[in-house]
Amino acid sequence: MENTFPVSSNMALVPLPVQYTVVTVCIALVGYLILKLLQGSKLRLPPGPRGLPVIGHLHMLGKAPHQSLMLLAAKHGKIFRLKMGVFPTVVISSPDLAREVLKVQDQHLASRPTFESGKIMAYDNQSTSLTPLNDRWRFMRRIISTELVSAKRLEQSKSIRREELLDTLEDILTGGRAGVPVDFDAKLTALVLNQTTRFNFRRRYYGTKRTDVAEGAEAFQDLVKAIGGTSFFFPAEFFPFLKFLDLGGVETRLRELAHAADLFYSSILASHRNEDGTYIYREPFDRDFVDVLCTYQKESPNEITDQVIKAAIQDVIIASSSTSSATMIWVLAELMKQPQILREVQKELDTVVGKERLVDETDIANLPYLRAVLKEAFRLHPVLPLLIPHQSEVDVQIGGYDIPAKTRVMVNTYAIGRDPEVWKDPLDFNPGRFLGSAIDVKGQNFELLPFGAGRRMCVGYNLGLMTVENGLAQILHTCDISLPEGMTPKDVSMEEQSGASVTRADTLKLRVTPRLPAHVYVKAGINL
Ligand code: HEM
Ligand SMILES: *[C@@H]1O[C@H](CO)[C@@H](O)[C@H](O)[C@H]1NC(C)=O
Ligand SMILES: *[C@@H]1O[C@H](CO)[C@@H](O)[C@H](O)[C@H]1NC(C)=O
Repeated sequence: MENTFPVSSNMALVPLPVQYTVVTVCIALVGYLILKLLQGSKLRLPPGPRGLPVIGHLHMLGKAPHQSLMLLAAKHGKIFRLKMGVFPTVVISSPDLAREVLKVQDQHLASRPTFESGKIMAYDNQSTSLTPLNDRWRFMRRIISTELVSAKRLEQSKSIRREELLDTLEDILTGGRAGVPVDFDAKLTALVLNQTTRFNFRRRYYGTKRTDVAEGAEAFQDLVKAIGGTSFFFPAEFFPFLKFLDLGGVETRLRELAHAADLFYSSILASHRNEDGTYIYREPFDRDFVDVLCTYQKESPNEITDQVIKAAIQDVIIASSSTSSATMIWVLAELMKQPQILREVQKELDTVVGKERLVDETDIANLPYLRAVLKEAFRLHPVLPLLIPHQSEVDVQIGGYDIPAKTRVMVNTYAIGRDPEVWKDPLDFNPGRFLGSAIDVKGQNFELLPFGAGRRMCVGYNLGLMTVENGLAQILHTCDISLPEGMTPKDVSMEEQSGASVTRADTLKLRVTPRLPAHVYVKAGINL
């Protein structure tokens, strides 16, 4: 083949020797690279650690990514960039930058990346927590905030929370008779799940005795355990080009789990429908969350498909249960480490509530010390330390750096909570720091973000807070708790375990004795 190169129109037919062609191509290439470099240097990307080819920085994250990322921030700054497999990711570790992401530029950063696990487990990313910013997300958030966690709904579900709490107290107190240590992890997980399943779909699925639907209960418990214990860390999640491989069988396991979960959610849906598939009518005041979703489905069948309802059921079970119980456990563990703080909490309860009746949800507002203890636990032990990843849909700037569209953005609330530039003596558990302070957990104070902030802030935060505050107040008021024989406060481990949320690695086993006069329990219907 002849080598021709049309340099200009009048020379077009002049054949050029091969070496000319090579030189020209080289010049073009160099020019292209220079142009690229110039363009590249116009983008001011955040600094970051050097990564490995292909895997990027995944190997640096280890078992507790929030901890590893906190250490990386100390080296590379409050905003740094890394690659999780093929995905560019920016990590934010200061209150100012968190405000920038979650408030100032929230509208651009409130989307979500999609995940392989979300595709498999959440009906093609249709859950509220994992769906990108779109109309379905807006619709579902509105339904949850008006129909599940509005002031009116919370008032309606108050008696359910109370009944379940009293049952749990009975369980804990009788279980602790004769000095047998009680497994608080198990009891509080069951408490929150019972509360959640009862006001979402009128069933108590957790625990061993008195289940409404025995076989359903077993399936449900297995399911919750499996989802909680599943690693969502698998190659295809970070390297889409490896999708055809299922290394370690994680994907197969996820598919099995998704199938089991789907059968369960289908049975819940079926229990809200007649034989012919029509929705069982209930008066508005009597509707549970699934009833409500079914009435919306009647109006907008194309938007509220069965899959959307099932994804919502899963969302409220997973989002509300592990987070709330894990938080209560962190608080109790910290109190066991510092008995003087426990005594202070109980003194406040005795002053405000007294010893002649149980705590009521309306007492919580008058328990500032207890609420300070909870804030302190949220600061040191946020159960979703990196929130749920956000994603920019357009090019934005954060802290003077360019963040190209489709970058994942993670806010490390754990690092912010332990930063000596933000908190005095950050590693001390000292609730006193919140007394007389205006700092709250409702997304207005960017140094304390257990629920996030902005458009993607936890939609159930008021229910979560109520569950946790009320549960703790009731337990600490009715029960004297102490460490098992032979254990001292300094033996209480604060080691973490990262799963669906960050929980305490050890099981919390405590001795329990009643601390109120016997007739108070009798009157409340607690049989000791
Ligand atoms: C102590 C309890 C809880 C904690 C600490 C907690 C924390 C969080 C956090 C940190 C996020 C992510 C925010 C972000 O990505 O910026 C979140 C999202 C979410 N939470 Fe909670 N949560 C709790 C309880 C609940 C409850 C009771 C519900 C029940 C409705 C719930 C439902 C959700 C949902 C649906 C989302 C996704 C919101 C969205 O993507 O738009 N959470 N939660
Ligand atoms: C859900 O997420 C997966 C994984 O990122 C993606 O491949 C898929 O296209 C997403 N589906 C929808 C409907 O967004
Ligand atoms: C949760 O509900 C089940 C089933 O009704 C019951 O057996 C169990 O005791 C309850 N658990 C707690 C901790 O209240």
